[in-house]
Amino acid sequence: MPPTRTNAMSTIALQNISITFLGTASAQPSSSRNHSALALTLGGRGDVWLFDCGEATQHQVQKSDVKMGKIKKVFITHTHGDHMFGIGPLLAGCLNGMGGTVEGIEDKRLRAEAIQELDPIEIYGPIGTRAYIRSVLLYTHTRLEGRYVVHELRFPKDPPHGDFTSLPPHRCELEGRNILQNFDPQSSSGHGVWNDIHVDDLVSVSAAPILHSVACVGYVVNEAPLPEKMNPSDYVPHIKRNKAPMSHLQTLQRGEDITLEDGTVLKGVGKRPGRKIAILGDTYDPSPIIPLSQGADLLVHEATNAYLPGVDPHAHEEDTEEGVEKRTKSRGHSTPQMAGRFAKLIRARRLALNHFSARYKGDDDTNEESKSIMGAIRELAEKEFGGEVVCARDLMTINVPRVK
Ligand SMILES: *[C@@H]1O[C@H](CO)[C@@H](O)[C@H](O)[C@H]1NC(C)=O
Ligand SMILES: [Zn+2]
Ligand SMILES: [Zn+2]
Repeated sequence: MPPTRTNAMSTIALQNISITFLGTASAQPSSSRNHSALALTLGGRGDVWLFDCGEATQHQVQKSDVKMGKIKKVFITHTHGDHMFGIGPLLAGCLNGMGGTVEGIEDKRLRAEAIQELDPIEIYGPIGTRAYIRSVLLYTHTRLEGRYVVHELRFPKDPPHGDFTSLPPHRCELEGRNILQNFDPQSSSGHGVWNDIHVDDLVSVSAAPILHSVACVGYVVNEAPLPEKMNPSDYVPHIKRNKAPMSHLQTLQRGEDITLEDGTVLKGVGKRPGRKIAILGDTYDPSPIIPLSQGADLLVHEATNAYLPGVDPHAHEEDTEEGVEKRTKSRGHSTPQMAGRFAKLIRARRLALNHFSARYKGDDDTNEESKSIMGAIRELAEKEFGGEVVCARDLMTINVPRVK
């Protein structure tokens, strides 16, 4: 639970929260799917947070409605190349003023100064994220005008301190945090979590390990609790009777109580939970993130391989459902059924599948083969989940509406 801030109402509230899939391929990109990256747009202030940043993410951003200059944070799930080869070029694009970070300033020197004033781009990821970015930028002699900072989520087996590289920081790199796990004694999985790695007035982010072939992290974005709709007629007669100022309504809307002169106590409006979005990386078992992701409005879960007899023309004849699941798991990945079961377990409202094998094409619905394969994958997940499933395509945007 993020700490409640009394000034939450003074900031612009989030309207739309949407997700744009920039890349939905697994290891190999194809003509219809690029490497992993996903943009979360926080309507209202319009900030964009990227989750993973595979090769060509910068190009994909340019082709989408996502604004380069609005990218404020990048969350890396794990350091496999298909999830982070795009981070060097992306930072170069965002931090050299070419990405529209600072608009309307033609003068190069003034623009450079304006970029220096901006908050640094914050990057989160497991150990190695900082070392990788530093080497990419240093060895390619990349000059940046803006600053960046890398916060690493350290696992218990990792060294708790240090940069994990002997290279000196890039001139534009600020000192980041190395965040250790919190251990909840109630946790049955034996894994810790990283609580509230980011908190502001509107949203907070927590993370937990998810099991893959290398250290991997899932992220959960929580919208701060929202005030209920106020019914002024509950309050106005009392305020008038006491000749108290109408501005009390704003205080009550913030959830604070007010005691009037005649002793009447007006109870501030209650709060309802905000939206929750769980974005997982590659995994064959995400159970350590169960406590954080319970009741997610949207779960993004990988579904790398599927058993599709009669639908997938390239399926091996000797395959069985169990065989495919076993092979998929042994490579650190999930099937649509595994994703569906997990969505059901955490009582997610909706499930979006991504990270598909190059065999499962992501063209539009005019391609009959990809339409029937993706339809079959969706059905496999839906059968286990019992709720709505979306198979992500590159450049697809889905909204996360407020339902509570
Ligand atoms: C993948 O990215 C490249 C570079 O932007 C682009 O040419 C290609 O069309 C993209 N593929 C898809 C499916 O968006
Ligand atoms: Zn991957
Ligand atoms: Zn991976």
